[in-house]
Formats: sequence, structure tokens, C-alpha cells
Amino acid sequence: MSQRVKIKAILSSEKTNYQATVKGWVRTFRNNQFIALNDGSTNNNLQVVVSEQDMDPAEFKRITRGAAISVTGEIIPSLGKGQKLEMKAASLEILGDCDAEAYPIQPQKQSLEFLREIAHLRFRTNTFGAVFRLRHSLAFAVHQFFNEKGFVYLHTPIITASDAEGAGEMFRVTTLDLEKLPRNIDGDIDFKEDFFGRSTNLTVSGQLEGELGAMAFGDIYTFGPTFRAENSNTARHLAEFWMIEPEMAFYDLKDNMDLAEEFIKYVIGYALQHNREDLEFLAQRLADEEKQKPQQERSEMGLIEKLEFVLNNQFERITYTEAIDILKNSKPNKNKKFQYIVEEWGTDLQSEHERYLVEKHFKKPVILTDYPAAIKSFYMKRNDDGKTVRAMDILFPGIGEIVGGSQREENYDKLVERMESMHVPVEELSWYLDTRRFGTAPHAGFGLGFERLVLFVSGMTNIRDVIPFPRTPKNAEF
Ligand code: 4AD
Ligand code: MG
Repeated sequence: MSQRVKIKAILSSEKTNYQATVKGWVRTFRNNQFIALNDGSTNNNLQVVVSEQDMDPAEFKRITRGAAISVTGEIIPSLGKGQKLEMKAASLEILGDCDAEAYPIQPQKQSLEFLREIAHLRFRTNTFGAVFRLRHSLAFAVHQFFNEKGFVYLHTPIITASDAEGAGEMFRVTTLDLEKLPRNIDGDIDFKEDFFGRSTNLTVSGQLEGELGAMAFGDIYTFGPTFRAENSNTARHLAEFWMIEPEMAFYDLKDNMDLAEEFIKYVIGYALQHNREDLEFLAQRLADEEKQKPQQERSEMGLIEKLEFVLNNQFERITYTEAIDILKNSKPNKNKKFQYIVEEWGTDLQSEHERYLVEKHFKKPVILTDYPAAIKSFYMKRNDDGKTVRAMDILFPGIGEIVGGSQREENYDKLVERMESMHVPVEELSWYLDTRRFGTAPHAGFGLGFERLVLFVSGMTNIRDVIPFPRTPKNAEF
């Protein structure tokens, strides 16, 4: 009995005339003879040649699209077009039947919108096979990058009592009976009776806990799910997304920018090196999609070219104030995509402003720094001008903000003052403030939205298509 071999291993070798066992799902079955078998290791199917005469007729009928099978046979050179090797089946076992009529996955191209409705089955398509193998690789590269640099992977809690961003976009966690919420004498909900004896929520960011780690290990990173109850039904927002948050003691804003740029380039480089086949598939998919668009809206670069461009060019670094000047001096644009490009200092940039800077003006990733204090979180270090903070956002073409980070306010008094002025509960965060009381030090960190990275590298256009089970407003089916 030969061992099960992955189809990728068979197809990536020149070796022939040996016996192997493969297990997978039937993608197509042509002419009662040719099975295209896929086992998820690659988008390339193994052609398995079966002969009806050699098989039990009842078994033979069970070879249908979608069925799970195990086949043992000889790997031989293929005479057919499109593949170098094929398997001549000697014995075939049906592991799981599939009613091909009822099976929603068709061999023809199906729309991404339709596949989103059957997200529980879409892994079995070429597009999602490539996307999720790529996602896996990028996650692996993230760990490899930080591990090589001696960062400690810190697991921060999913259930917390704090709002790290102070934006109030939390999902509450409770075991209270919603029908009979206990009230205190003021009529407010009494969370003393709740599971944790206080009000709790799903984390919006692991940063605050990450800072505690940095103040002991020097360099840490988190990589875990984060949750935001922001009602943004866009192609770039999820209610549940994965974030990578490195936090480094003794780093200033420039060190932070340098690390973020090196990190992004590293993981993109890793994918280019290790996921070539899937990236080429996704590049072709994107090129086909671009062909449907009017000429002037088509992207100038193919996917792989775009990734190589990012890898080989320095990100532009400018301050928020410089960005506002660029926006103010840009001519109001007739092109619908960039209509409102006049901005006032002090307001947050809208996605069209970000896109203008990145896609029209600089035509490369941009790191925007030193934002007005009023539009950024309480923990960011204030600049000497009193108006701006040492924040950095990294903006990517086609994506917008991919990274948000800052140098942190390490001075206890200044931090408390800022928390009070922003109505952040000081007592509840006394554990956080302890870092500033006991051996505080300059430090900085950032958060990279993992799905936005996968979006960029895969060339997909909707964030729902790069996370296996997307959570968005009014959608938590699977
Ligand atoms: O800019 P944000 O809110 O920053 C933080 O949470 C900081 N605590 C990070 C830090 O300094 N440690 O979020 C960071 C990144 C964004 O740049 C974006 O890429 C991603 O997280 N992000 C989202 N991705 C998908 N869906 C959402 N709703 C997202 N919100 C933020
Ligand atoms: Mg942000």
C-alpha cells in the first residue's frame, strides 16, 4: 500500500513510472475516462485516467463532480495537452459521494458575489484555493519576520474591559439575560452581576497589553483577531479582522516607520518567492477582470509587477501638513473618483484623499506622519508644536490605510492630561499607566490590518474575499 502523496509534490517533480496514492475531490469527470482531481495543495489538478471496464459499474457511477476519492495508480507521462504527468488508476475508492446536480460549485467561472453566499464551499474553487494558500503563507511570513528579529509573540486577550482606541466601537460580551437586565439604583445596567463582575467587550486592538509586553521584553508582536462594531459596509472593513501589532521599547517614530516598511516588504517578498504559482493565477484573474473595465480605469501594472514595484521602491514619507498642502494645491478633478480634493487642516482624510495622494500624486505607498492631535488616539506622543502627534499611517494603492501606528506618550503626567481631556477613564486604565510609573521608556508600535495586506497581495478587490468567514454588518452566517 503506497503512502498518500500530495498532488503538488507529484506535479512539481519530473519523476514518472512509480506507484502513488492520491486523495482529493473530483473537479470534473470527462468522457467517462478523465478525472481532474484536486486535493487543495495546488490549483493544478492531477489528471486521473480510469477505465470503465476495470471498475465495478455501481462504483463507477459514483465518480461525480465534488465526490471525495482515493486513487492508487501509476504516475506516467501524459500524452494529453495541458499536463506533463497523469495517473493511470489501478484502484479507486469513493470516500464520499456528491450529488453533482445539487452541488453548487460549477466547473465554469462563478461570480465572487455568488461564491460569498456559499462561503462554506468556496474553498473548492481555484480563486479561493489560491487566496487562502496565499493568506497562510503571509501569516507564516509574519511570524518568521518577527522571530528572526527576536520579537516575542505575545498573546493578548480577546475579551477585555477596555477600549484601546477610545472610539467606542466595541462588541459587548455578556452572559446577562437580555430580557431581565439587572439595574442599579440609578437605573443603569448593573454589570456586577455579569460573568466578570464588570462590563466587558471584544478587543479592538491588543496594543495596550502589547505595550506592557514591550516594557519587559523590549520587542513584542501580537497577531490575532480584533473586533470593531463600526457600521462601515465597505469593501475594506470587517467587523472581525486580524491585526499584527508590534510594539518596541526604545523606538521613535522613524524607527517605527523603518520597521513597518521593512516588514511589509519582507512579507511581500516571501509571497513572491514561495507562492509564485498562486500569484500567477491571481495575476491572470485580475488581468481578466481589468479587461472588463473601460481603458482609462485599467491599472497600469499587473499584479506581480505591482508587488515587485512596492518591494523595490522606498515608501514616500510626508507629514499630514504637507499632504494637506498637496491636496489644497491639486486642481479639483473632473474624474469622479477624486472629486473632493480640497481639504482643511485639522480634518481627517477621507479615503478619496488618501487615494489621490497614493494613486495620483506619488504613485507609490505613502507614510503620512504627524497628524493633528485632535483626530488621533489618546496614547500618541505629542510633538513640540502642541498641535500634532507622532502618528503614522501607511497608505497603499487600491487599499488606502494599511497600517496605523505611533510613538507612544511615555510621560505619565502628559498621558494622564491627554486622557482626561479626551474623557478616557484614567482609573480603569491604571494598569496601563503603571508602565509610565515604573520605569517608563520611549516606545512605539503599529498595527497592520492583515486582510488589507492579503487584499493587496492577492489583487482581490473585496475584503470579504480574503478572510475565510467574513463578519460584516448583518452577516454572520457561517
Ligand atoms: O488604525 P487602527 O485603528 O490602529 C490601531 O488599532 C492601533 N492600536 C494599532 C497600533 O498602533 N498598535 O487599526 C490598524 C489597522 C488599520 O490601518 C487597518 O489596516 C486595520 O487595522 N483595520 C481594519 N481592517 C479591516 N476592517 C476594519 N474594520 C479595520 N479597522 C482597522
Ligand atoms: Mg487608523
